[in-house]
Amino acid sequence: DERLSDEQLLADPAEKIAAVRGSRHPSIPLPADLFGAARKNSIGIDLQDREILAGVASDIRHARVTGQEAQGHDDVAGVVTRAVSGFAGWSATPLAKRAAILERLADLLEAHRGELMAIAVQEAGKTIPDALGEVREAVDFCRYYAVQARTGLAPVELPGPTGERNVLRHEGRGAWACIAPWNFPLAIFLGQVAAALVAGNSVVAKPAPQTPRIAARAVELAHLAGVPADALLLLTGGPDTGAALVADARIAGVAFTGSTATARRIARSLLEEESRPLVPLIAETGGINAMLVDSTALPEQVVADVVTSAFRSAGQRCSALRLLLLQEDIAGRTLEMLAGAMDTLVVGDPADPATDIGPVIDRPAYDRLMAYRESMRANWVKTVEVPRQGLFVPPTVIRLGAIEELRQEWFGPILHVATWEAGALDETVARVNASGFGLTMGLHSRIARAAETVEALARVGNLYVNRSMIGAIVGSQPFGGEGLSGTGPKAGGPNYLHRFAAERVTSTDT
Ligand code: SER
Repeated sequence: DERLSDEQLLADPAEKIAAVRGSRHPSIPLPADLFGAARKNSIGIDLQDREILAGVASDIRHARVTGQEAQGHDDVAGVVTRAVSGFAGWSATPLAKRAAILERLADLLEAHRGELMAIAVQEAGKTIPDALGEVREAVDFCRYYAVQARTGLAPVELPGPTGERNVLRHEGRGAWACIAPWNFPLAIFLGQVAAALVAGNSVVAKPAPQTPRIAARAVELAHLAGVPADALLLLTGGPDTGAALVADARIAGVAFTGSTATARRIARSLLEEESRPLVPLIAETGGINAMLVDSTALPEQVVADVVTSAFRSAGQRCSALRLLLLQEDIAGRTLEMLAGAMDTLVVGDPADPATDIGPVIDRPAYDRLMAYRESMRANWVKTVEVPRQGLFVPPTVIRLGAIEELRQEWFGPILHVATWEAGALDETVARVNASGFGLTMGLHSRIARAAETVEALARVGNLYVNRSMIGAIVGSQPFGGEGLSGTGPKAGGPNYLHRFAAERVTSTDT
C-alpha cells in the first residue's frame, strides 16, 4: 500500500529533503533554489543523463502500463458539481498537509517513472530523453509548488497602527478548470493541477484529447498521494467539452495552455454571462520565437543550439525556435554547418534510445505541416530523409525574404531563416517584437553590449543568451510569455501560486 498516514505525510520537511537528496533517487536533479545544488540550465543530455537513459530504456521495456483506458468523466455539469462540493473539505485542509500531499505525489511519480515514460512514448510519441524530461519536470513542479506554498501562501502579518492587527491570508477560490496541451501531457498537466490544488482549490482537469491516458494515471497517483477524489476530477473530451467547462459559471478560475485563439475564446466565455463572478484566467500560448546570431558567435555552439531549439521534440514545444536570424556575413557558412548537423539527426521510432526526433502528435498535425512545407518547396535550404511509415515530418529549413513573412506559429520541425545586416540589431529586435508574440528569444553573440541591447528591447518572457532556447527548468527559468503568448504569471516561478488564491485581509482592533 502506497498511502501514507497523516503523520508520515506531515513529517519534518527537512527529513524528507534529506531522503530525496540521499540514495533513493540520486539521478533525478531537483530545482536549484530548493537545495542550493548547481544544475545545468539546459536539458541537453549530459553524462549523468546517459547513465539514466540506459536504465530507463530497460524500465520502459519492463513497465507495466496501467490505466490503459482513461477513466475520465464526460458529464461536464456533473463533474463541476462534484468539484464544487469537494472544494469545501479541501480548502479547509491545512496548507502544510496540502503541500505534503504534493511532495508525496512527487515521490509516487518518481517511483512510477518507467511506467509514466512508457505511456508518454506510446501515447504522445515522446523520445526517451523527452519522456524522462517530462516526468522530471512534473516532479519538479510538485516539489517546487509545495515549497513555494509553505512560504508564499502562509498568512502574513502586516504593519498598522498600535492596537490594530492586520493579517493577509491566501485561500482557495473554488473549483478551477485546468486545461492542458498534448505536448507536455504530464508536466504541464500536473503543473497546473498541483498549483491550483496547493492554493486550496478543487480542480476539474481536462487533458488534451490526444493524451488522456497519462493524465488519467497522474490523477490516480494524485488520489493515492492523498488528494480527495472530489477535489480532483478528470474530465476527458475535446474542444466542446473544454468550452462547456469554462462556460459553467461555477468555475472559479481557468489555467489554460494551448493556442492563442482558444485562450481568446475562453476569455470571452468567462465574461459572457452578466451575473458571473469575474474570475482569473492564466493563459500560456504560442510564439514566433526568434534567435539572433551575430558574427562574433561561436559557430559550433550556434549550430548545436539551433538543432536542439528547432528540432528537438519534433519542434512541438511552445518555446521552440521558429525563426533563425543570421547576420548577413556569417549566413552562408552557418547554414552549411547546420545542414551538415541535420544530416546526422536520427528521425524514427521514439522508443529507440538512439532516436533524436520522433513523430508529430497526430494525422491532422502531420497533414498541416506537410502541406505547408510543400507549399514552401521553392525556399527550402535543407531537408532530411525520414522513414516513410509513420507521422515523421522531415526537419526542414526554409529561407524567408523578410522577418514579416512568417505570420503564424508552425508547431513542428520547420525552421525559417532570414538575415540582417551588421548594425541593425536594434531594428531587427523591433521587427521581431512587431509580431505581437512574446514567448522566447535567443541571442548568440560574444559582445556584452549586444546582450544588453537585446535584453532591453526584447518583449519576451524568456531570453536565452548563448545557449539553446528550450527546456526551461522549474524554479530556475520561470516560463511564460506576454502579448499574444500569454497572460502570465510564469509557471515554475515565485509568483505563479498567488494567481490561484483569493487574498483576504482581516483588520482587528485589539
Ligand atoms: N517549458 C517548455 C520549454 O521550456 C515549454 O514548451 O521548452
